[in-house]
Amino acid sequence: MSERSAMEQEWWRTALFYQVFPLSFQDSNGDGRGDIRGIISRLPYLEWLGVDAIWLGPVYRSSMVDSGYDISDFCDIDPVFGTLAGFDDLVSQVHARGMKLIIDFVPNHTSVEHPWFKESRASRDNSKRDWYIWRSPRPGNTAPSNWIDNTWQPAWELDPRTGQYYYHRFLRQQPDLNFRNPDVRRAIQDVLRFWLDRGVDGFRLDAAADLLEDELLRDEPREDDAAQQKPPAWKDHIFSTDRPGTIELLSEFRSVVDSYPGRVLLGEVNVTKANFAKYYGLERPALNLPFNFELLNLKNWSAPHVSAVIDQYLTQLPPDGCPNWLLGSHDVPRLRQRIGSEHLQGAAVLAFTLPGAVLIYYGDELGLDNAEIPQEVMVDPYAEFGFGRDPQRVPMPWDNSANFGFSTATPYLPCAPEASSRNMDYQKRDHRSLLNLYRRLAELRGNQNVLRHGTYIPGPCYGHLLQFRRELGSHSLNVALNFGPDPILIEGHQGKVVLSTSLERQGETITDGLLLQPYEGLILEQTSN
Ligand code: GLC
Repeated sequence: MSERSAMEQEWWRTALFYQVFPLSFQDSNGDGRGDIRGIISRLPYLEWLGVDAIWLGPVYRSSMVDSGYDISDFCDIDPVFGTLAGFDDLVSQVHARGMKLIIDFVPNHTSVEHPWFKESRASRDNSKRDWYIWRSPRPGNTAPSNWIDNTWQPAWELDPRTGQYYYHRFLRQQPDLNFRNPDVRRAIQDVLRFWLDRGVDGFRLDAAADLLEDELLRDEPREDDAAQQKPPAWKDHIFSTDRPGTIELLSEFRSVVDSYPGRVLLGEVNVTKANFAKYYGLERPALNLPFNFELLNLKNWSAPHVSAVIDQYLTQLPPDGCPNWLLGSHDVPRLRQRIGSEHLQGAAVLAFTLPGAVLIYYGDELGLDNAEIPQEVMVDPYAEFGFGRDPQRVPMPWDNSANFGFSTATPYLPCAPEASSRNMDYQKRDHRSLLNLYRRLAELRGNQNVLRHGTYIPGPCYGHLLQFRRELGSHSLNVALNFGPDPILIEGHQGKVVLSTSLERQGETITDGLLLQPYEGLILEQTSN
């Protein structure tokens, strides 16, 4: 393969992924919920922003208990979102604009409404019984193990019809498929082919580390519960997550994806730092991009902490493993909530200039904050357990028309806070806005080979300063970020400012030391050392 065509095949290595949460992006039919036609109507915006690939949340037929993550038909579109024909249209329109489309893929579980589960629960000798994980009670009539689900409730549900329990890693309405059954593996691979044949460019594999459970159903340690930070207690799941055999299973999926040129397999692997690297695959390739949750999970957004997680992550990457940086998602509070508004610009500069792929969550480019949502209008079932995710899932604010351009009807969730200025149209017209910074950064990544393919060289970090360099041949860009409220003087730097969060510095020539303004992020083209 020529270098150029290898680069085309592996476009994802340097891509900017933009996550669309389908219910909340754009409504086209006036029911207050987002849909596929709505997304199509907003493609010009994503193209303008410089997005390379859209990661589309689940739009499958669903019982909609978990916003589409409870699928009742893997090969159809839910009427809330549209139709298969509309989906095909989305694929071709995304491609016509030079972007890619990745879809969420949720094989770990189905909805209780899925015909497979309906059959499976019908009787102990049903041919689909073993497609899910059924077990009899333990002596004393207790659940088959002490495992807890994602809501911290027992992970086993007794089904009175047959007197056995089924296992659910997530909600009780989401029974886990049994991936030790070859028929399930085959059926799920067929689903992958179904969507690949429709032209999708890849998948974001949901809960990729949770697909297999311990065959002996050994109890998990609970004694340190009090010390655990809940939820979710990922590190407790030593027998129900990250089990031997998972990587082999993922490489089977990968072979299917690889049989179609230029496709990609991303995966949600929320495992310990020590364990993520193997998800790239050991003997055989597994995920192209196992998600890197380090920036997302970081509790302390300070220069030393950020530079430490970057270093730890990059040194653990396997050879040829492509780095990726996740800034936000539908499962965690908004970036603004997590890191503070003063850091929003710097975080964008950081993520867009580190090596590898970047993943951003819709609305973070506008600096959206978590919304206050009254209990009675919450839709996420996790709200009942005290950690609802609706606040980070509210409708995208587009302009200052009714419902901020999201819908002609009352939206299914309230609007985002301060949407009269934090909306797309308003920020597009303000050249100092966060949105325009994202756009400039995306453009710069597109234009500067060094940002896509250059080596990463960490620089001296002290106090509130974080620095690194990207180098390609003789071309070198210095990235300097001030995480603090006071200016910082960096001696010895010379060059031209290619981009700064202080717009007036664009093009400035630095001759003798660089004075970074509070919270400034700056990219300097080095002319000499
Ligand atoms: C993943 C999704 C989350 C969903 C869960 C169950 O963690 O990101 O939103 O609730 O899987 O599918």
